[in-house]
Amino acid sequence: MADFGKDSTASDPRTQYLKDYQPPAYLVEDITLRIELDPAATRVTSRLTIKRNPAAQAPDQPLQLDGQELELTALRVDGIALTENEYQVEEGKLVLEDLPDDVTLEIETVIHPDRNTALEGLYVSGDMFCTQCEAEGFRRITFFPDRPDVMARYTTTLVADKNRYPVLLSNGNPVEQGEMDDGRHWVSWQDPFPKPSYLFALVAGDLFCREDSFQTCSGRQVTLKIFVEHENRHKCAHALDSLKQAMKWDEETYGREYDLDIFMLVAVNDFNMGAMENKGLNIFNASCVLATPETATDADYYNIQSIIGHEYFHNWSGNRVTCRDWFQLSLKEGFTVFRDQEFSADLNSRPVKRIADVNLLRSHQFAQDASPMAHPVRPDSYIEISNFYTVTVYNKGAEVVRMIRNLIGSDGFRKGCDLYFQRHDGQAVTTDDFVAAMEDATDIDLSQFKRWYSQAGTPLVSAAGHYDAQTECYQLTLSQQCPPTPGQELKAPFHIPVEVALLDTTGRALALKLEGENATSGTHRMLELRENSQQFNFVGVKTSPVASLLRGFSAPVKLDMARSDEELAFLFANDPDPFNRWDAGQRLASQTLLQLVRQVQHGDTLTLEDRFIHAFQATLEHSTLDAALITQALTLPSESYLADQSDSVDVDAIHTARVFVHQQLADHLFDSFLDIYHRHNDDESYRFDAASMAKRSLKNLCLGYLMETIRGEARNVCFTQLEKSHNMTDTLAALSSLAQHDWSETDDYLQRFYQQWQHDPQVIDKWFAIQAGSRLPDTLQRVKTLLNHPAFRFTNPNKVRALIGRFCMANQVRFHAADGEGYRFLTDQVLALDKINPQMAARLVSTLSRWRRFDANRQDLMQTELKRILSAPEISKDTFEIVSKSLD
Ligand code: PHE
Ligand code: ZN
Repeated sequence: MADFGKDSTASDPRTQYLKDYQPPAYLVEDITLRIELDPAATRVTSRLTIKRNPAAQAPDQPLQLDGQELELTALRVDGIALTENEYQVEEGKLVLEDLPDDVTLEIETVIHPDRNTALEGLYVSGDMFCTQCEAEGFRRITFFPDRPDVMARYTTTLVADKNRYPVLLSNGNPVEQGEMDDGRHWVSWQDPFPKPSYLFALVAGDLFCREDSFQTCSGRQVTLKIFVEHENRHKCAHALDSLKQAMKWDEETYGREYDLDIFMLVAVNDFNMGAMENKGLNIFNASCVLATPETATDADYYNIQSIIGHEYFHNWSGNRVTCRDWFQLSLKEGFTVFRDQEFSADLNSRPVKRIADVNLLRSHQFAQDASPMAHPVRPDSYIEISNFYTVTVYNKGAEVVRMIRNLIGSDGFRKGCDLYFQRHDGQAVTTDDFVAAMEDATDIDLSQFKRWYSQAGTPLVSAAGHYDAQTECYQLTLSQQCPPTPGQELKAPFHIPVEVALLDTTGRALALKLEGENATSGTHRMLELRENSQQFNFVGVKTSPVASLLRGFSAPVKLDMARSDEELAFLFANDPDPFNRWDAGQRLASQTLLQLVRQVQHGDTLTLEDRFIHAFQATLEHSTLDAALITQALTLPSESYLADQSDSVDVDAIHTARVFVHQQLADHLFDSFLDIYHRHNDDESYRFDAASMAKRSLKNLCLGYLMETIRGEARNVCFTQLEKSHNMTDTLAALSSLAQHDWSETDDYLQRFYQQWQHDPQVIDKWFAIQAGSRLPDTLQRVKTLLNHPAFRFTNPNKVRALIGRFCMANQVRFHAADGEGYRFLTDQVLALDKINPQMAARLVSTLSRWRRFDANRQDLMQTELKRILSAPEISKDTFEIVSKSLD
């Protein structure tokens, strides 16, 4: 695309390739840091003991240290100061030639945390200092080989004003402290475990600390501490509970014990992501750790529990065994997401968790796989690694680990994990090493399976069943194909575990015998699809069965099987696998909705079949189903999922069809919704457990449907809930359904909510998000006005996500308005944000990368905006990568 004035990304000189990996020329054994904290000018002194790497490719490679935005003030080799012509600093690297094989290097740099709005490296958040070093932030603190295969032992001394920064934290154990004459004090920390620089962290501030403890399986006492700003002191309990649950779970499930005597959590308001697993000092976005029933929803509680688990689990899957290079990111992230998903499933409801995870994968990861940003779980090139913290690396990566477990069984998987941790403790390794441990522990060949790491795209599995009454044989044909993705025209067949059961007319799963097996056994099979097409013959099948396929979503594929609405309704009512039961309902709803989309497009009168309403009614009124499963079953596929299912996305028709089905169900089932609402609306005080959450979720689902009608009764239910609610779950559910209507009460209640919560930034984020998520036609106008609200802060990622992110990424119908106003708005924000925080800008702009999925008019509008970004002077490489690949 020469007319954009930039080269295509393939030839971009900044592209990094997996195939170019080389071991480092030097290793760092120890690093001693002294950091004199001052917001305007922080002085960093670093002392490195360095050794030539015996595994280096050439014996005379120079030492290369990474550094970015550093002022170098001194450099000494074995105690002798170097003059400026004895080293080179170029393109973010400090290069030293002809060093001895063993050498001590001392480096002094000055940095400016108060100017750091990118939130990478050392920065200021409110009155505290904090760091973020993954992936390449340590090079903004000092010159260092900032790559994960260089693992060193850290000793860190922090020096700061004692009044302003009474708390000084870093990794490992505190070993010494003292005071100075000038009002400053210092604390030294020592981390006995060698680690890559991305796991370094420090925190300083005037923080409240809540303490707890945990006894490990071997009887060691670990001190747990959570540090928060004083106004949040009442919000720590859930995080500490979750942490103890996670520590226990990892011992019981993986036999993994915590290794230091102290484990610390910190909450900060300004943070690009959810949280970070720094050794012994996990740092959290305040929104992912702080909670009280009054300020946090069930979804927040759930999320906090899983993120606390996630970061804690990294201590083994990521820290003790780390990544050789950033192409291996899924080694730690995919595996750790898998671990946190199982943790949540074990502690709450397994089927509810599985459905939620699959929903996320289908609506976001499948969409990424179908976009110009599609990439393998182990990417083979990148321009900016920050752009690869994606749903593909994280969530598809977790599915890849889950498939391994599906193929080698739970016991085999545990053996494989044990071998992996034992073999690689203290090492920086690759996804191939992970798979090799699984193979070696079980003697199962996973070589074909490894294509899941290297090939991008969502495979399409087609299934066809044929029953022969004469031979009592059910023949199942499975075939696969995978669409092309950037740089990968043709794919080799994947090794796909497909779990199958055969149901009789009452929904009972039949005992199975596959041709060639010598006996009938069990009621399900994990079929292994390895060829382009394969046949599986079930014998001794007495009556024509209904096949229940891909149970529990045993592989991250799209399943195509022609099913009538009747068959789907049957599975929706009867499949014993809760996941497939839900999935049948979703398929039924999608088929129905897409049919309605066509009706909208043809200008027909919309009609909803009674059969559909009855199927949903039966589920709603089911007497024994878990309330949370009912909620999930009655939640219609999202507009973005429906978009993904369409050949060319018609956002307005999709929106109209979905609102129509909501209103039809609400009208027809009004009495049921109202009755169930009241039955689940008790005055119980808030508890975080699966049963209470299930009750609230069903109640609020009913409220949502009721509010689709404009009956006075529904409004009253909503207003009463807003007046009486004593937890944020109920308040927010009512307020969000109210925000879909332009009634005078809407603004009154929004105003009151603001008045009540203006002191609490996490709650105010919700207030912004509710308004940005409204389907009302003037939402963009409102969002623009809110940008100037005193509570909005452009430098705070949570605010940007709540207002701009919510509008552009989760309000499909308003963002994609046909006049292009949403696109222009996004572009203006991205260009402004790119100068402040490139990571955030790149995340926001990625929503434009799917432009080819829309109609010609929108394609033009979106392309115009992408080109506008590309032609702006000096865009970051983060944003450049997303935009240029989107246009390629
Ligand atoms: N590694 C963090 C996690 O657990 C995510 C993260 C990446 C945080 C980059 C900050 C920066 O998943
Ligand atoms: Zn992680």
